[in-house]
Amino acid sequence: MRKHIVAGNWKMNLTFTEADELLDELMSELEKVELPRDEQVIVCPPFPYIEMASDYANDSYFLVGAQNVSDKEKGAYTGEVSAEMLESCEIDYCIVGHSERRAYYGETDATVAAKVNQLLAHGLKPIVCVGEVLEEREANRQFDVVKTQVEGGLFHLDAEQIKQVIIAYEPVWAIGTGKTATADQAQEMHAHIRSLLAGKYGQEVADEISILYGGSCKPSNAKELFANPDVDGGLIGGASLKAADFMGIITAF
Ligand code: 13P
Repeated sequence: MRKHIVAGNWKMNLTFTEADELLDELMSELEKVELPRDEQVIVCPPFPYIEMASDYANDSYFLVGAQNVSDKEKGAYTGEVSAEMLESCEIDYCIVGHSERRAYYGETDATVAAKVNQLLAHGLKPIVCVGEVLEEREANRQFDVVKTQVEGGLFHLDAEQIKQVIIAYEPVWAIGTGKTATADQAQEMHAHIRSLLAGKYGQEVADEISILYGGSCKPSNAKELFANPDVDGGLIGGASLKAADFMGIITAF
């Protein structure tokens, strides 16, 4: 059966010293709890701290993910980081298609598809973000918007490949706003995504794919969100920057 996952997306936050302190605190908290065997914690720091995070993680308490990857294989692309580089640093996951990258860096579903291909070719698991903006929800277009994103970013994959993918539903109006989707809104969209996957790949494959919720997820609402049958965990922004808050979400299952 699919995994429960809590992933922290640090975004562009923290200095080296602050990152070191947070990882240290997180490790000592994780040492104290016994997580269910089907639960996976992932930490996605900025690139410069990936090695430090890997050293802390030691593959036992959490796994490490990147926040971005190039859509190109290698070569003269100044400033870019390739999937091959991440593979060679033994990174396991990478976030793709975050709404901030779509909004500020012009990433499209085609970019997402190319990045997913790079990651899969190098043995990394993509965490693919989808989600509607406020105007789209107000116009009741959220299901169509997410369908287009899922199809455009992922439906070129075969069944074996799609099983490597984690999907994160992050309604843009809920990111960093303190406004969380209700448990019903999250469940409704997650069920929609799973039915899209089932339509394309069959129910058995769809049931193996973890679908995370992201957007102002905190210790106080994680339990209610994660209690839904199609909500398999969370992609956490702000609350992943404080060990106590992140732990409160990790232990919410
Ligand atoms: P917040 O948890 O800060 O709303 O961010 C969510 C997010 O964008 C995670 O990728």
